[in-house]
Amino acid sequence: MNIAVIGTGYVGLVTGTCLAEVGNNVICVDIDEAKVAQMKNGKVPIFEPNLEELFLKNIKANRLHFTTHLKTALDKSQIIFLALPTPQDEDGSADLKYVESVAHELGDLITDYKIIINKSTVPVGTSEIVKNIIKRKTSVAFDVISNPEFLREGFAVQDFMTPERIIIGTKSKKAIDILNKLYSPFITLKRPVIVMDEKSAELTKYAANTFLATKITFMNEVANLCEIIGANVDDVRKGIGSDSRIGNKFLFPGIGFGGSCFPKDVNALVHSSDTAGYNFQILKSVLNVNQSQKKSLIPKFKKYFNNHISSKKVGIWGLAFKPNTDDIREAPAIDVINELLLEGIEITAYDPEAMPNMKRIYGDKITFCNNAYDVLKDVDCLLINTEWREFYSPDFDKMKKLMKQPVIFDGRNIFDMEVMKINGFHYESVGRKIVTK
Ligand code: UDX
Repeated sequence: MNIAVIGTGYVGLVTGTCLAEVGNNVICVDIDEAKVAQMKNGKVPIFEPNLEELFLKNIKANRLHFTTHLKTALDKSQIIFLALPTPQDEDGSADLKYVESVAHELGDLITDYKIIINKSTVPVGTSEIVKNIIKRKTSVAFDVISNPEFLREGFAVQDFMTPERIIIGTKSKKAIDILNKLYSPFITLKRPVIVMDEKSAELTKYAANTFLATKITFMNEVANLCEIIGANVDDVRKGIGSDSRIGNKFLFPGIGFGGSCFPKDVNALVHSSDTAGYNFQILKSVLNVNQSQKKSLIPKFKKYFNNHISSKKVGIWGLAFKPNTDDIREAPAIDVINELLLEGIEITAYDPEAMPNMKRIYGDKITFCNNAYDVLKDVDCLLINTEWREFYSPDFDKMKKLMKQPVIFDGRNIFDMEVMKINGFHYESVGRKIVTK
């Protein structure tokens, strides 16, 4: 099949590459000329495991192309994916300016039947808006479909290739048939296509993301309670997660959720519910709790040093909002660093992938180190924000020799408490007892 993908962010690039991988002819469109030139030269603009390999393979096989010229892409393709950004407006709503502007162009440019598939997370009713914009401009037949994407950063290729379900929101029989064919390489009995109307499909994406954000936040509050009453959240997590109605995933407490999706989507659903006249109270609480959770290591750190913190030197492991990505959008590390800088604290930091992005924000306000151990030289304590694999089994003796004091505040519970006790650390984590020397 001939496919155009408009927008080459995470979702667009992964969609384009994976659809090419199963044999389709894909042309990716972006207005960013430098980015398109870079991709034509075989450079992947984002870090995502396994993407580069497929990207290069499909360019070589002549199935994956790039252009800035929308008309060229439209003329060659019947299926048009929209994978455009929907940034958060000041009031929390999703800004549709990119989607609407492309809809206008589609109305001007299409000359034969097209299936326009929206992959971006867009508020309920956006398919209808897109449909109406195009309809006002052309009499050519077309269908607009909502087909939300559920991929996770760090697992984007894997999630696209083996989705747990594919949601198709449309009433058009013709479009359903074509999409069933398009997705047939990814569908199995266990990975079904679920067809519904456009609005339900749009809401499914928000409901999924905000439910997961709520599940994490619930567990973060359980962890906070554990700290006060002296229970262990690891045990509580296992205890409730083994109930199949609850499930054991997305129950890991920490210093809050971040990223490009959860915070934005919770805000957007709160906003669109308010607009629709519904007060989505649980999601408002999720936002409040998450905001304070992101800073929850700071009071622990202050308390340990009896509020004498301004002369302290603090090391940080982890800057990305989660492991296996260089993405720092809404990363708890930003809240942590901002609080520390406000107190005039000296910071050294390391992250395997996200340092270039953080440097753009903080410049020389913090010292970026070449590896995890360089961070520790003469620090009064270590703060852990991201659970990168390479942090899990460090040389504790080497750490202690480098640090001024063996004190760790762990926002991701990466160490075993017994191990920390044996190694002589003061160790505070989330929802677990404090380990003292
Ligand atoms: C999420 C959804 O999982 C995905 O389906 C959707 O398409 C986009 O949004 P992503 O933002 O890439 O994906 O990250 P995810 O792995 O879901 O983690 C989101 C945040 O939740 C991270 O900040 C992570 O640290 C946090 N998290 C996740 C927890 O704090 N605890 C958990 O148990 C799981």
